[in-house]
Amino acid sequence: MAARWEHVEVDAKNAGPDFWARYHAYRRQRHAETRPEDPLTPDEIVEKEMKRDDPFDSHLRYEISRDGVILSWFSAGAPKPSSPGYETNKHILWADWSVHRDHRRRGIGSSWVPLVLEIMERHSQTTLSMGTEEASGHAFLKWLGAESKFKGAENRLRLADVDWKFMRRWVEEGQRRSPETRLDAYDGRIPESMWEEYSRELSTMLNSMPWEDLEHGEIVINADVMADWYQRNEQAGRRSHAMVTREPDGIISGITDMMYATYNPTIVHQGFTGVRASARGRGLGKRLKASMALHIHELYPQAQWFSTDNAGSNAPMLAINTKMGFKQFRVGSEYQITRDRLAARLKELAGAS
Ligand SMILES: CC(C)(COP(=O)(O)OP(=O)(O)OC[C@H]1O[C@@H](n2cnc3c(N)ncnc32)[C@H](O)[C@@H]1OP(=O)(O)O)[C@@H](O)C(=O)NCCC(=O)NCCS
Repeated sequence: MAARWEHVEVDAKNAGPDFWARYHAYRRQRHAETRPEDPLTPDEIVEKEMKRDDPFDSHLRYEISRDGVILSWFSAGAPKPSSPGYETNKHILWADWSVHRDHRRRGIGSSWVPLVLEIMERHSQTTLSMGTEEASGHAFLKWLGAESKFKGAENRLRLADVDWKFMRRWVEEGQRRSPETRLDAYDGRIPESMWEEYSRELSTMLNSMPWEDLEHGEIVINADVMADWYQRNEQAGRRSHAMVTREPDGIISGITDMMYATYNPTIVHQGFTGVRASARGRGLGKRLKASMALHIHELYPQAQWFSTDNAGSNAPMLAINTKMGFKQFRVGSEYQITRDRLAARLKELAGAS
């Protein structure tokens, strides 16, 4: 099955101009297919990110090319032993591959399976995880025998439609219901002296998100992860904004963050919002989101959209977003299959051909 196609590993750090020319051409073709109305991330930003040393995750990249054209692109990632969440995440390989739209249904997509199995065996990984938001991807992954374990969506808010008076009311209501709770805003990095505390609270909140049936490990953010995250974003021209609520005893009760990219000034990304379990039901989530929306709107008047990713099962977050005016933009699923089942499927396919 694999013999017809040559899978070539890509070393992004040392790749020459020929590689980058065909890679960016492929990227443009995929962008036109999947998100034609969005700005394309500039080539130099993509190159910088692919060339950088990631201290916490390893990245594998392969191409199938012919006559200077990429027919298929494969990438996979997994935590390195240096990652603080390594122990509970090391068994999962996160992979993503696509085939040039003019070359589909010729067995290229399935030709990656023996390589995936080899990678998983080499690294003792037992679960393969792959996401898609395209009809072809759903059909292919089901054919492969993978199961949909998590449904999510990218939701978008058109700022021209936002009722800003209503947002100000959420802020006032939040203040009234918890007059002792302070809200602090941080544009750019939050002070380093807060990283330990912030990352601990953020990790706890992130791990309380619903994962549906997805096989996953623990999310562990620490001060080193934060430092790397800031550095990566700043190098790429992205600026983070955070808001934190604090109770009178000094404890962080809620967090929200957004990311502005200088190369994409019209769409601002809403990251994670979380309220500590013991502080829920007091309107802190709404206060945080509305305060941040007002702040970003004022700071970046050229922004037209907020974009955010949500689990389909995250009812409290979706309720807040829907009231703000967020609407579903793209839906997707994360599929998983065990290495043993994938190996059995490969055997079955080899027998059938
Ligand atoms: C998913 C994708 C990689 C498949 O690549 P491909 O080269 O067309 O896949 P194959 O030719 O090996 O297909 C294997 C089988 O999957 C099924 N399949 C693939 N695409 C399908 C589609 N669009 N509709 C229905 N079945 C499909 C078929 O059973 C097919 O066998 P057949 O052609 O003999 O009927 C490609 O469609 C793609 O790039 N999609 C967008 C990216 C994506 O969603 N990737 C998700 C995987 S991580």
